[in-house]
Amino acid sequence: MTVDVVIRRARPEDAAAIASLIAVFADEALMLRRTPEMVELAIDDYVVAVKASGDIVACGALKEYSPSVAEVAAIAVSREVHGCGVGKAIVAAVEALARKRDIYDVFALTLQPAFFAAIGYQRVDRARYPEKIRRDCLSCARRFACNEICFAKNLRAEALAAA
Ligand SMILES: CC(C)(COP(=O)(O)OP(=O)(O)OC[C@H]1O[C@@H](n2cnc3c(N)ncnc32)[C@H](O)[C@@H]1OP(=O)(O)O)[C@@H](O)C(=O)NCCC(=O)NCCS
Repeated sequence: MTVDVVIRRARPEDAAAIASLIAVFADEALMLRRTPEMVELAIDDYVVAVKASGDIVACGALKEYSPSVAEVAAIAVSREVHGCGVGKAIVAAVEALARKRDIYDVFALTLQPAFFAAIGYQRVDRARYPEKIRRDCLSCARRFACNEICFAKNLRAEALAAA
């Protein structure tokens, strides 16, 4: 199945729609909730997939932890377009943003391991990312019962392999 979407950087006026899309999956404990205000504050880090109607059907964000490491975060695809390659395209857009910022080590903490494995990520120990653990995990209510799996990709190695 294919779907016609344009992938672009997010704009401040997209913040409410992005927060609503994320809320669908946050309600199911599949991802962390973000308020429109939280999204707007970090809007330069977001990318979105937009249908011809103008509806935002997917989003993703690059969350920087150090000058060289960032998380592929807030990946959400509306159920109406699941399985059409939109998630893969959104992650590719977040990776492009990382490369633009000279960040080549990207990771994700996820409950969707098969998705990240399918798009070229390797399972790694989250201890590889102490910045993430310090900033987010230590203060998280689920820190002793976290079932998220860490996946990572080296974007420089990927570019070299493709050359
Ligand atoms: C996970 C999610 C982003 C996938 O988006 P999607 O647009 O349906 O995925 P795509 O169509 O781009 O799939 C890309 C690849 O991943 C695979 N894939 C996607 N979801 C999968 C799943 N749940 N289980 C196994 N494989 C999956 C596809 O088969 C495809 O593989 P292929 O390229 O070999 O054919 C989407 O289901 C979603 O938004 N889920 C709810 C929110 C969430 O859990 N976000 C992740 C937070 S880290």
